[in-house]
Amino acid sequence: MTPSMDMDKIAIVGMGYVGLPLALQFCRSGVSVTGVDIDPAKVAAINQGTSYIRHIDSSEIAGATKSGSFRATTDFKACGDVSAVLICVPTPLDEHHEPDISYVLDTGRAIAPHLGRGCLVVLESTTYPGTTDGELRDVLEAGSGMKAGVDFHLAFSPEREDPGRTSSTVKTIPKVVGGLTPGCLERAAALYGRAVDRVVPVSSCRVAEATKLLENIFRSVNIALANELKMVYEAMGIDVWEVIEAAKTKPFGFMAFYPGPGLGGHCIPIDPFYLTWKAREFGQHTRFIELAGEINTAMPEYVVHVVSRALNDECKPVRGSTVMLAGLAYKPNVDDERESPSYVIMKKLESLGATVLYNDPFVPVIRPTREHPEFAGRRSSPLTVPADAVVIVTAHDDYRSFDWSAMLCPIIDSRNVVTVRPKKYYRA
Ligand SMILES: NC(=O)c1ccc[n+]([C@@H]2O[C@H](COP(=O)([O-])OP(=O)(O)OC[C@H]3O[C@@H](n4cnc5c(N)ncnc54)[C@H](O)[C@@H]3O)[C@@H](O)[C@H]2O)c1
Repeated sequence: MTPSMDMDKIAIVGMGYVGLPLALQFCRSGVSVTGVDIDPAKVAAINQGTSYIRHIDSSEIAGATKSGSFRATTDFKACGDVSAVLICVPTPLDEHHEPDISYVLDTGRAIAPHLGRGCLVVLESTTYPGTTDGELRDVLEAGSGMKAGVDFHLAFSPEREDPGRTSSTVKTIPKVVGGLTPGCLERAAALYGRAVDRVVPVSSCRVAEATKLLENIFRSVNIALANELKMVYEAMGIDVWEVIEAAKTKPFGFMAFYPGPGLGGHCIPIDPFYLTWKAREFGQHTRFIELAGEINTAMPEYVVHVVSRALNDECKPVRGSTVMLAGLAYKPNVDDERESPSYVIMKKLESLGATVLYNDPFVPVIRPTREHPEFAGRRSSPLTVPADAVVIVTAHDDYRSFDWSAMLCPIIDSRNVVTVRPKKYYRA
């Protein structure tokens, strides 16, 4: 293979929660980055030095664009002028709960005609083993007329972004990398070695893809266990949160996971089912994944059940009651509400005839989402608006410091954020 130019210039396709922070880290490391996205609003925002992700400061983007190391475009021709193209586009499930890798393949088709000899292509989107060296490789080879591992390099490196986490950053989170060939691995490891503290090479793209799935399945299964124990202990009059705090003191062999109102975000509710789908091709059944999915998916229903019990104690039916959801984001202190259990709870309560309001300091207005377009445009209400019940869905810091003890209506707490309890307090 003709050696490509040095790795001072790369393109990152998909400027979302994963691609944008990754781009900024490469810029900080002296690599010039072109962000490619089909969303012209994101491209314009980057070029104007404006952030559209709450936990990323506009000044970081402006600094990188002003210095000339970062720019964005909707034009895939930009992928022809670089030594590496990293792909960070969505990998959701379709309406049949099956992997939808169309965004990855569309990206592959769009970059292939521009791919230069010796260029490195790395897929970062979470997916099932076999995507990189199978479907993605096929579209890249067909569109470029070149051979992967011979004319261009191909690798997979899973993103481990955890939006809002401050204790580890793109730089300090070790980066697992698997290549199609030893040469591809070497090239990808060299690129990431410029931007992150530690690169973890593995023997193939499939091992790297499977590693990411293990990490997310591990979380899904353990959260399901915490959710199951929540319901079991609740029935026994035992506080599961107190139990977890006590168990956490064991210095080995235990890792704390917490119950909640259901899974949210772009990863944990989705990724495990990428493996479930692929495993069927090999005659394998992923029983742990399915069971965890079943338990976690039932959590919003459990919350709604507690809400109706709380309203019943007030001699009120759900129909006609006003319920305030505190928290729309799927995790604390971020503005990401994709796949949030709040939406499911909202939908279920409304189907029972309740009027549902929400409060979220991070989500002033609901953006159109793939899963719940019907809620787009609704606005956050003040937490103090009169309601018949309040359900705490997200553990935002604002809610931890809020004085709930003065609230007169029932408070249903699915996150254990209330310290001084009001008179009418329910756990869900
Ligand atoms: N968000 C996370 O915390 C997280 C963590 C680890 C891994 N991941 C994985 O990373 C991948 C990306 O996730 P995300 O959260 O950044 O998604 P996102 O929706 O925030 O961003 C994806 C971006 O890709 C763009 N896009 C879609 N199709 C495109 C195309 N054909 N060409 C160019 N751009 C296109 C979209 O406009 C969007 O800006 C997913 O596979 C996800 O599972 C996400």
